Amino acid sequence: MGEKTDALVIGGGGREHAIVHALSKSNVIGKIHCAPGNPGIAELARTHGADPGDIEAIRALCADNGIKFALIGPEAPLVSGLADALRGAGIAVFGPGAKGAMLEGSKAFSKAFMARHGIPTAPFDICRTEDECAAALAKRKPPFVIKADGLAAGKGVFLPDDRGEAMEICRGLLSGETLGDSGRTLVIEDYLHGKELTVLALTDGETFKILPPSRDHKRAYDGDRGPNTGGMGAYSPVCLPGGVIARVADEVMKPTLSGLASEGIEYRGVLYMGLMLAETGGNAEISVVEYNVRFGDPETQAVLPLLLGDFGRLALSAAEGTLRGCPDIEYGGNAFCVVMASGGYPGKFRKSLVISGLDDEDAPAGTFVYHAGTSRNDDGSVVTNGGRVLSVVGTGGDFAAAREKAYARIAGITFENMHYRRDIGWSEE
Ligand code: AMP
Ligand code: GLY
Repeated sequence: MGEKTDALVIGGGGREHAIVHALSKSNVIGKIHCAPGNPGIAELARTHGADPGDIEAIRALCADNGIKFALIGPEAPLVSGLADALRGAGIAVFGPGAKGAMLEGSKAFSKAFMARHGIPTAPFDICRTEDECAAALAKRKPPFVIKADGLAAGKGVFLPDDRGEAMEICRGLLSGETLGDSGRTLVIEDYLHGKELTVLALTDGETFKILPPSRDHKRAYDGDRGPNTGGMGAYSPVCLPGGVIARVADEVMKPTLSGLASEGIEYRGVLYMGLMLAETGGNAEISVVEYNVRFGDPETQAVLPLLLGDFGRLALSAAEGTLRGCPDIEYGGNAFCVVMASGGYPGKFRKSLVISGLDDEDAPAGTFVYHAGTSRNDDGSVVTNGGRVLSVVGTGGDFAAAREKAYARIAGITFENMHYRRDIGWSEE
């Protein structure tokens, strides 16, 4: 076995904690650094205060610590070109450059890309004026789907039932009032019925390896009610009709990779395929709802614990362009992630509330508590510091066992005003 490679993970959420955890078990990864990290990550990696938005600071961090491999967690630094800058400095990077990141950073770009390459997605119009919006809405019936072009931290999609309200939403977006520049271009598309599914694929631009399928729960409250959030829970794998994953590979992943290559866009990292499966019985219809150019949060927390192989080797090989030499992904068991959020999230919420029960020595085996919005206060206690505070994961031999373990672990954790969904995985029953 050759020398181990030190790694830098960019980000500080539950997704990055799960990534650092998976890397910490790798035979090919040496020391792990993380910027900015969080108190949970700090138990497994050396954390640094550098801001992921500050490209120079991250480049200096790599140079100062001899880091030759970086994995970028969140979308914003990818869209602003951090991967290009680090590659320019001779670092192997897991994560696409700014051009590839447009698949997430611009919905108008990604929809036009799918249209160019015959990738199934809802019929759409790209609108820059009120007249264009009115015409696009007139062609459709409710519910309407209106999407801001740019990054919007999960707040850029609107699904109004009423035509007048839809036009109001368009006006607010086009004027910049609702989301600033992110909303000055809009995508208006057909509403897709069916069940959502997340498929993540690791790729070096040529070869790809599909991770176990997962399902997120975006609404804040039980019964899929309330506002959309970044994700309140996830489980993996998802029970699917036979052949669906092979079709996702053939109908979505392969044409996406060949489309990127034909446009001269090098893509190394993970492609997140947000899909809708239409309920047409045996013959599911697959459409892409969205691409993301990074791991899903909280899907990652439910996917990585299932992997039987060396995640570090896969991630490093994707970054170095040698994924072809890696074995196919094998996984086993079930994992179930429940997000513990601050009361009020995704709206206003309090911070700095002490969290107890994190170091539970009697915690059920096969459970993990990934930190997201946490920090340490002056006396060293872990406190809340964000909307999504913790991702609590249970693993087990079947779906019910994994779920039971996740909720059993949650029962030992408390903080004031905490909120979590009691019905993660309901649609699987
Ligand atoms: P996106 O950011 O594009 O993934 O959209 C956020 C959420 O809005 C998705 O996860 C879906 O639940 C919903 N959504 C987006 N586009 C559509 C569509 N065309 N039809 C139905 N629901 C959609
Ligand atoms: N869980 C949805 C996302 O990561 O975009």
